[in-house]
Amino acid sequence: MLLDENYQELRDLISKFSDTEVAPLAAEIDSQGEIPKELISKLAENGFLGSFVPEEYGGAGMDYMSYSILVEELSRNCASTGVFVSAHSSLCVWPILAFGTEMQKKKYLPLLASGQAIGCFCLSEPGAGSDAGSLTTTAVDKGDHWEINGVKNWITNGKEADIAIVFAKTKKTDDYKGISAFIVETNSPGFSIIKIEDKLGIKGSSTAQLAFDNVKIPKENLLGPLEKGFRVAMATLDGGRIGIASQALGISQGAFNYAIRYVNERVQFGAPLSRLQGIQFILADMSTKISASRLLIYDASTRKDLNRPYSKEGAQAKLFAAEAAMWITTKAIQLCGGNGYTKEYPVERFFRDAKITEIYEGTSEIQRIVIASNELKQL
Ligand code: CAA
Repeated sequence: MLLDENYQELRDLISKFSDTEVAPLAAEIDSQGEIPKELISKLAENGFLGSFVPEEYGGAGMDYMSYSILVEELSRNCASTGVFVSAHSSLCVWPILAFGTEMQKKKYLPLLASGQAIGCFCLSEPGAGSDAGSLTTTAVDKGDHWEINGVKNWITNGKEADIAIVFAKTKKTDDYKGISAFIVETNSPGFSIIKIEDKLGIKGSSTAQLAFDNVKIPKENLLGPLEKGFRVAMATLDGGRIGIASQALGISQGAFNYAIRYVNERVQFGAPLSRLQGIQFILADMSTKISASRLLIYDASTRKDLNRPYSKEGAQAKLFAAEAAMWITTKAIQLCGGNGYTKEYPVERFFRDAKITEIYEGTSEIQRIVIASNELKQL
C-alpha cells in the first residue's frame, strides 16, 4: 500500500531494526520461550514501548497508525516480540492514557513508555473467556483501599508485568454491570503467578495464570468510573484488536517473503518452482490477502487517529488478518514442502504463531458478533 513519506520513513526505520535486532534472535526466542532482556531494552531505547504515549508523559508521541506499522514490522520476524509490544501498549498503556486521571498518567505512563515497567491486561478468568462479563474476581472497598481477590487466565506478559490493568466486580451482579477497572502494581503482597502456559506458538511471549489474594491497592487506582469497567475493557480491546491484526499481518508477510524466496530458488522438474502457474496462483492469493489485511488495518488505525468510530473496523481487520494469516502460513509450508515442515525453516514457526491471532483479544467468532452488532445498530 502506498504510504505517505513520513510513514514510509518510519516503516524503513522499524524494518531495519526488526531485520538487524529481532530476526537473528527469532528462532532462539521460540526455542527458549523467552524474549532476551537486552532486546526489551533495545525496544525501549527506540521508543517502541511508548510509541503512542505523548512526549509530555515520556513517550515517542506517534499515532496509532505508526504503532500498527511497528507491530507489523516486528511480527514480520518474530510474532512473540510483536505481541509483547502490542499487549504492553494497547492493553495497558492505552487504557491509562484514555481513562486515567492526570495523577495516574503522570505516575504510570513514563514508567511504561521507558520500559522501566511492563504492562499486562487481566480480564479473562478460568470461567470467563468470551463471556468476559461473567468474571468473578472481586474488589471490595475497605475504606482507605481496595482489596482484590480472584484468578486471571491467559495473561499475555503475565510473567514480566509490573503493572496490570485488572477487571473486578465492585458490585455483585451476574452480568458486566458491576465491573470496575483498576491499576495494580504486581509487587503488591498477595499477587502471584500460578503457572506459565506451555503453548503451540508465540512461545517467547509469556501467557500466565495469575492469583490475586487479598491484594490491597490504593483507592486512587480505580481506572475510569466505578462500575464502568466493562466499557473500559471493550474500548481497550477495540484498539488491541488492531494490534493483533497487525501481528497477524506481520506473520503473513514474513511467511510470504520466505515462500517467495524458496520457490524462486527451489528447482524441480528442471526449473524453479516459481515458473509453475499453479504455484503463481497461490502466490497471487497470498499477496492479495496480505494487501487486503493491510488496507483494513490502516483504515481502522486511521479512524482511531481521527477519533472516528473504529470498533467494527478493528474487528474486521482482526478477523480478516487472522484468518488470512492461518491460510497464508499453511500455504507457505505447502510451498516449501518437507523443508517447510521442519524447524530449520521459519515457516513452521509462523504457522504455529498464526493460530493464536484467531483466538486472543476475542476469537474470530467474537469479532463476527462485534461486526454484526455494529451493522445491526446502524439500521
Ligand atoms: N466500547 C465501549 N463500550 C462498549 C463497547 C465498546 N466497543 N462494546 C460494548 N460496550 C459497552 C456497552 O455500551 C454496554 O455498556 P452500558 O450498559 O454501560 O451501556 C456494555 O459494554 C455491554 O455491551 P453489550 O451488551 O454489547 O456486550 P455483551 O455483554 O453482549 O458482550 C461481547 C459483548 C462482544 C461478547 C464481549 O463480551 C466481548 O468482547 N467478549 C470477548 C472478550 C475478549 O475479547 N477477551 C479477550 C481478553 S484479552 C486477551 O485475550 C489477551 C490478553 O493478553 C489477556
